[in-house]
Amino acid sequence: MKKRKYLLSLLAIIVSTTYSNSETTEATPPVGNQKALVVYFTRTGNTKQVADFIHKTIESDRVELKTVEPYPESYNELLTQAQQEINSGYSPPLSTTIENMESYDIVFVGYPIWHGTTPPPIVTFLTEYDFSGKIVVPFCTSASSSGSSSFQKVQQLCLQSTVLDGLWLMSSSVESSQTRILEWLNRIGILGDNGTGIETVVDTKNTHSVSITESYLHVSGDFNRLTLINMNGAEISRTKEKTMPVGNLPAGIYFLKIDTKNNAMVTKKVIKK
Ligand SMILES: Cc1cc2nc3c(=O)[nH]c(=O)nc-3n(C[C@H](O)[C@H](O)[C@H](O)COP(=O)(O)O)c2cc1C
Repeated sequence: MKKRKYLLSLLAIIVSTTYSNSETTEATPPVGNQKALVVYFTRTGNTKQVADFIHKTIESDRVELKTVEPYPESYNELLTQAQQEINSGYSPPLSTTIENMESYDIVFVGYPIWHGTTPPPIVTFLTEYDFSGKIVVPFCTSASSSGSSSFQKVQQLCLQSTVLDGLWLMSSSVESSQTRILEWLNRIGILGDNGTGIETVVDTKNTHSVSITESYLHVSGDFNRLTLINMNGAEISRTKEKTMPVGNLPAGIYFLKIDTKNNAMVTKKVIKK
């Protein structure tokens, strides 16, 4: 019941968010302030929508993979070519290059399911670069086939990496999947919550560490004032103290404005369970 209430309030908040709102807000650094990259391949834009949402949520760079030879426009021709490439194990050369791959700790890899598995350009990407020691996070969209065999394929291609549980979304539900994406990011620990119920956001530039439990929001470091704002931009609470009671607030996403001692304004996203 509690979980349902949480989901409904989170959904209501997300539905009321506009793109311009989320554009002006700083994304949350991934757990441990690691450096993240969102790489995706798309043909009709479904996977791009998911990649864009992850990129807006998690502080990251984002790159779309393109092949040297574009795939046929004709759907039937594409189906045939993709099947041939998968059967023969062909990896099409990519025109996209990622110069500083070694600098990333976490690599999100997004793709559409093609013939039940990872599309060949993703196989090229995963074999061309060295993912040793990195965290690889697959996500995919499809008309109906599950993502599980593609996740196994990613696992096989990244034996020296930690491959986290992938996210599979049906094409028809991509537009309304923000809640699922956020829950997945929380569940796999990328958003800093490993099931503890405590969301911690560390702001390295301003040395403000923000943590929120069911009852309190706490900010360490020096500042003049904290202002908590909901997803509609309405001010919820304001304090000069380091701790703000939040027990009466519904679960969901909020933004915390920190007026710093040097008169800068830092905005952090916090998720209340
Ligand atoms: C060549 C090809 C093969 C596909 N094979 C499957 C499949 O096996 N199962 C499935 O559910 N959808 C399949 N689809 C549909 C796509 O996975 C689905 O439309 C996906 O959301 C497209 O993502 P995109 O817009 O990012 O390209 C296929 C599409 C193409 C073009």
